[in-house]
Amino acid sequence: MEIIKNNSWLMLFVLFTCFSLKSHVSFGADTISANQSLSGDQTIVSKGGVFAFGFFNPAPGKSSNYYIGMWYNKVSERTIVWVANREQPVSDRFSSVLRIHYGNLVLFNESKLPIWSTNWTATSGRSVDAVLLNEGNLVLRDLSNNLSEPLWQSFDHPAHTWIPGMKLTFNKRNNVSQLLTSWKNKENPAPGLFSLELAPDGSNQYVILWNRSEQYWRSGPWDDNAKIFSLVPEMTLNYIYNFSYVSNENESYFTYSVKDSTYTSRFIMDVSGQVKQMNWLPTNSWFLFWSQPRQQCEVYAFCGQFSTCNEQTERFCSCLKGFQQKSVSDWNLEDFSGGCVRKTPLQCENNSLANGKSDQFFQYINMNLPKHPQSVAVGGIRECETHCLNNCSCTAYAYKDNACSIWVGSFVGLQQLQGGGDTIYIKLAASEFESPKNNKGVVIGSVVGSVAVVALIGLIMLVYLRRRKTATVTTKTVEGSLVAFAYKDLQTATKNFSEKLGGGGFGSVFKGVLPNSSLIAVKKLESWSQGEKQFRTEVSTIGNIQHVNLVRLLGFCSEGTSRLLVYDFMPNGSLDSHLFTEKDSDFLDWKTRYQIALGTARGLAYLHEKCRDCIIHCDIKPENILLDAEFCPKVSDFGLAKLVGREFSRVLTTMRGTRGYLAPEWISGVAITAKADVYSYGMMLFEFVSGRRNSHESEDGKVKFFPSWAAKQIVEGSNLISLLDPRLEGNADEEELARLCNVACWCIQDDETHRPSMGQVVQILEGVLDVTLPPIPRALQVMVDDHEHVVFFTESSSSQSSLSKSNNSTASAQAKSTTLSRSS
Ligand SMILES: *[C@@H]1O[C@H](CO)[C@@H](O)[C@H](O)[C@H]1NC(C)=O
Ligand SMILES: *[C@@H]1O[C@H](CO)[C@@H](O)[C@H](O)[C@H]1NC(C)=O
Ligand SMILES: *[C@@H]1O[C@H](CO)[C@@H](O)[C@H](O)[C@H]1NC(C)=O
Ligand SMILES: *[C@@H]1O[C@H](CO)[C@@H](O)[C@H](O)[C@H]1NC(C)=O
Ligand SMILES: *[C@@H]1O[C@H](CO)[C@@H](O)[C@H](O)[C@H]1NC(C)=O
Ligand SMILES: *[C@@H]1O[C@H](CO)[C@@H](O)[C@H](O)[C@H]1NC(C)=O
Ligand SMILES: *[C@@H]1O[C@H](CO)[C@@H](O)[C@H](O)[C@H]1NC(C)=O
Ligand SMILES: *[C@@H]1O[C@H](CO)[C@@H](O)[C@H](O)[C@H]1NC(C)=O
Ligand SMILES: *[C@@H]1O[C@H](CO)[C@@H](O)[C@H](O)[C@H]1NC(C)=O
Ligand SMILES: *[C@@H]1O[C@H](CO)[C@@H](O)[C@H](O)[C@H]1NC(C)=O
Repeated sequence: MEIIKNNSWLMLFVLFTCFSLKSHVSFGADTISANQSLSGDQTIVSKGGVFAFGFFNPAPGKSSNYYIGMWYNKVSERTIVWVANREQPVSDRFSSVLRIHYGNLVLFNESKLPIWSTNWTATSGRSVDAVLLNEGNLVLRDLSNNLSEPLWQSFDHPAHTWIPGMKLTFNKRNNVSQLLTSWKNKENPAPGLFSLELAPDGSNQYVILWNRSEQYWRSGPWDDNAKIFSLVPEMTLNYIYNFSYVSNENESYFTYSVKDSTYTSRFIMDVSGQVKQMNWLPTNSWFLFWSQPRQQCEVYAFCGQFSTCNEQTERFCSCLKGFQQKSVSDWNLEDFSGGCVRKTPLQCENNSLANGKSDQFFQYINMNLPKHPQSVAVGGIRECETHCLNNCSCTAYAYKDNACSIWVGSFVGLQQLQGGGDTIYIKLAASEFESPKNNKGVVIGSVVGSVAVVALIGLIMLVYLRRRKTATVTTKTVEGSLVAFAYKDLQTATKNFSEKLGGGGFGSVFKGVLPNSSLIAVKKLESWSQGEKQFRTEVSTIGNIQHVNLVRLLGFCSEGTSRLLVYDFMPNGSLDSHLFTEKDSDFLDWKTRYQIALGTARGLAYLHEKCRDCIIHCDIKPENILLDAEFCPKVSDFGLAKLVGREFSRVLTTMRGTRGYLAPEWISGVAITAKADVYSYGMMLFEFVSGRRNSHESEDGKVKFFPSWAAKQIVEGSNLISLLDPRLEGNADEEELARLCNVACWCIQDDETHRPSMGQVVQILEGVLDVTLPPIPRALQVMVDDHEHVVFFTESSSSQSSLSKSNNSTASAQAKSTTLSRSS
């Protein structure tokens, strides 16, 4: 019986499929005609085979939700670019159909009910079909008039992906913006909380909003001359995309194209709340080219309520003490938006003050405070605490600059910093403090205890604060031996800043003489945006670092808006002046070069590994290696990246002479680690060998990029003497040369995990550690082959790269990179 039954079902199924096949789309078609439908595993494929369209499951094996969508047909990793029924999945794709229904494309679910439609108001009698175009656009066409505009097109209904040719429009007629909206999580295409749109205020810039309300990133207005968004200066590094801006009486929008049409590129509003530009590599993986905001914790409410965001942890988000994940399954999908919930209700909610326990506060230090505080006019920190304690809906308070802030109800945006920042006190039920103390914070006593104790604490605090205040005003020396200089003393010492030694991204350096006749170098910081306290904290950190291969900080000056740093003067100046000298007599011999390479590596290894907090230099280049009277190298400008902070990446990209040393992760936007320094160091090593800038014009006028050529020679085991600076006339220790070349090539690997640490570099150069033959870095390899795509990593370090670059110089830079790839 069972068998027969099964068979009859099978028969029915076969019959059904046979009948329905007739009306289904034919294999390989790019069109759904009026008499056809799409169901099950059927797909349509665009004419050139670039895109496919059909049912897909974003979480195969985990969920039975199917969606109608579009993906790259030739990309081996299934990558969805557009989804129709984002919010209404079907579970049986075989009994659901997509077909033309009264002039619209309509998706019917298992119960034959419409759940999605192109939904334009069809006038009867029109004959339409839907065609998938090669650009990734699904178009509903009017067959009676093949010249008319599409009746409907998926390009007008962006999902989370912006592909070339598509525009993201602001419609001036109804003031409606098109949105690029993230998925809820990587397994659910329903609209998430993050969206990108053209700012409706007509400021010609894109903004990212959380829940369509909180703006946490903007591109800055479009600069049509420089072809960049003003807050995205790294766009000057782009030779891949062609952006254009259109504005007329009906609408304004941006669109972009990829200059090399064989290149697969997409721009997404990611579930992380960041916009990301991804490129498909010939090596079959997506490569993160660029993303913003750079820091995950800058994404508004990324971790949800009652949580902290920490850039230093892999998962970024964690619940505050006394709170737990609201939805563990969401958190496991890296959807933190639900945040955390209280484990134990506050006592005040329970009216159980009677049992003698009241709510208490848990202290978190070094925090970026949550958004949207309420300010309360009270006298001091104790009153601030009392105020919060007395209002049951108050969940936290902070006291800063003599002002009391409280947070009512839930709050988002609390971020754990490594140093600096502010202190916040989180209200918790007293019972939360009974378990062993969490070492992250300190319990602050309950106010309801003895009033006398409170008064005493207050008094002590007051005295302490007073003393600290007077101390900072009167003392000139802080933290060890650093000297706090007066501005006018430095003005005198430098003869009113008349003898300029050099300049860089952080400011200009001037020579000076102290009254005791010792020579100094005074750096005037330009991009300073933070407060006095943080400046002193950072400076005292830098000032405590002592190493023979690091420039010594003598003191600083912090008056008004001026921030200056005072260093030992280095009589032999910076390395670039010796390495790239035009004078034939002045060049450095091999032994000296090797010792400088080794000393620099030791200095950096110390910064990375031996200091209390790892210091990433971020700007390693010959200009920042100073030489003392004995040509002992001293790394300068360390710690400044951190000091100048968030402004740094902007500074960096506008800086002259740095780009040739920039690791790819600076542009792709992934977190910067010490390995970015290793990359820059490796690039610099190539210049030790050649005695020239890595990019230079050769005699025949073509731009040569030395590392690509050198890497090839190294990997092929060619005679390395041929790489050597001709002025050395072959006078170099061949074993040292081989070590140096191999290390250089390892240091500039694309994947930072393949690069050695600075400590390992030291050991290799010392001959303690052996090194194998490196592979050619992919970025260089692509360039050696025939693409110009990756040239930006390595653009001439000597070429000017100002923000206000004219069209002309962009064009010439482009021409340069083209020559470059052809000539290799
Ligand atoms: C569907 O319609 C097209 C024209 O609109 C026609 O050429 C084709 O034969 C039809 N197919 C079926 C199976 O009826
Ligand atoms: C089909 O869609 C309708 C309308 O959204 C819904 O009520 C119904 O439950 C769906 N059927 C199935 C089997 O999901
Ligand atoms: C179609 O549009 C109408 C009004 O514009 C809306 O009420 C309806 O929900 C839409 N239907 C679908 C399936 O999107
Ligand atoms: C479009 O219409 C014109 C005239 O109306 C016709 O000559 C032409 O062949 C049509 N093109 C296509 C692709 O159907
Ligand atoms: C769109 O916004 C502009 C300026 O804010 C306003 O003048 C105009 O009336 C708005 N139009 C519509 C259709 O809301
Ligand atoms: C987003 O905003 C809507 C109102 O516009 C609100 O109802 C909803 O709760 C908000 N979502 C979150 C997660 O806060
Ligand atoms: C860039 O795009 C614009 C508009 O689409 C086009 O006119 C221009 O020729 C393109 N430029 C390049 C270099 O592709
Ligand atoms: C703006 O829209 C009107 C009405 O649809 C149309 O006539 C006009 O050509 C449009 N202007 C532009 C620049 O597209
Ligand atoms: C109030 O507190 C008591 C004892 O601490 C607990 O058993 C009870 O569940 C609490 N009630 C509420 C509403 O939280
Ligand atoms: C608590 O503070 C909030 C915001 O300041 C206020 O709206 C509310 O009325 C206060 N509740 C009590 C009980 O004072």
